[in-house]
Amino acid sequence: MNLQNDLILRAARGEKTERTPVWLMRQAGRVLPEYREVRAKMGGFKELVKSPEFACEVTVQPVDILGVDAAIIFSDILVIPEAMGLDYEMVESRGPLFPKTIRTAADVEALRVANGVDDLSYVCDAIRLTKAALGNRVPLIGFAGAPWTILAYMVEGSGSKTFSKAKRFLYTEPQTAHALLEKITQSTIHYLKAQVAAGADLVQIFDSWAGILSPAQYREFALPYIARISEALHTLVPVTVFAKDAHFIRRDLGQLSSCHTIGLDWTMDATESRQLIGPDKTLQGNADPCLLYSDFATIKAEAHKMLRQFGSQRHIANLGHGLYPDLEKDKVRCFVDAVKEFQW
Ligand code: CP3
Repeated sequence: MNLQNDLILRAARGEKTERTPVWLMRQAGRVLPEYREVRAKMGGFKELVKSPEFACEVTVQPVDILGVDAAIIFSDILVIPEAMGLDYEMVESRGPLFPKTIRTAADVEALRVANGVDDLSYVCDAIRLTKAALGNRVPLIGFAGAPWTILAYMVEGSGSKTFSKAKRFLYTEPQTAHALLEKITQSTIHYLKAQVAAGADLVQIFDSWAGILSPAQYREFALPYIARISEALHTLVPVTVFAKDAHFIRRDLGQLSSCHTIGLDWTMDATESRQLIGPDKTLQGNADPCLLYSDFATIKAEAHKMLRQFGSQRHIANLGHGLYPDLEKDKVRCFVDAVKEFQW
């Protein structure tokens, strides 16, 4: 079935678009009072993620309420560790917590490679329901965490400023780290392929903790695994790689022939990024999420400045990271509208 609005898919493939498309990382959940209302009626975060009807409802909300050009499936990157046998809890107002963490080769050995269709069938069910609910209005984005970021949570056991336990693991147990990254990569390929089979129109790989590795470590422990995932998916759907804070890897990402779009955070200059990445990729981003605390006129002016910096083609407007929970919905809408009304 043809999508009524396929701007994001065309931008990702480098085809002509009549205006710059826009969506927002973490648009599902977090800022919408409509999300919090539905959430209050339900149990914990994991129950929400495992309820396809709920996931479908909050995935479609930003399309209706904010007018974005794509939906992103309501789920979390941490469903992969869980499907591999490492359970997590989402602690209210604190974030994820893994009661047991990965320390030894035997721990890695005990993990299984997740099979997307069986272990994560609830995400596929949510995607199928959402595709039906969207009725071909806009594309649906599927996603997964990048192997390094998933390893970071599995070894650290929670969020952290430095992820020093996870980084220590790379220095002290490099072989075990590679064995773990291998299992995560295989699981992620199965998972993303299952998302595409269920109806995801493009996929994004979130490497949220990319920027804490050295360039050499990133080339050893992160990039090759992202490349494998991207290679396994790119003939099926466009692939976006978002390596947050990893300035140093932009040139390498530009040479990753299998990926279509590179996500940029707000610290990365548009012109410099284009030079480093080259002409053959679409760039996604990159307004500072804190811009949306500003007044309406400033939000609009800065959104337009961003569009001029990136140019009229091969750009998908977004923030440089996810929306913050305390942003006002009207300010978020103002950013989306500013992108959509901009005239070249
Ligand atoms: O983008 C979307 O709206 C789709 C849904 C989505 C969620 N998490 C829902 C969620 C996506 C794409 C993610 C990705 C994710 N999850 C990342 C990568 C992106 C990034 O922000 O860097 C990471 C690192 C996680 C792990 C995670 N999940 C953390 C650290 C936390 C706690 C703090 C937080 O961000 O809110 C979560 C919880 C989470 N994931 C919530 C939502 C809506 C909040 C849960 C709630 O309502 O209580």
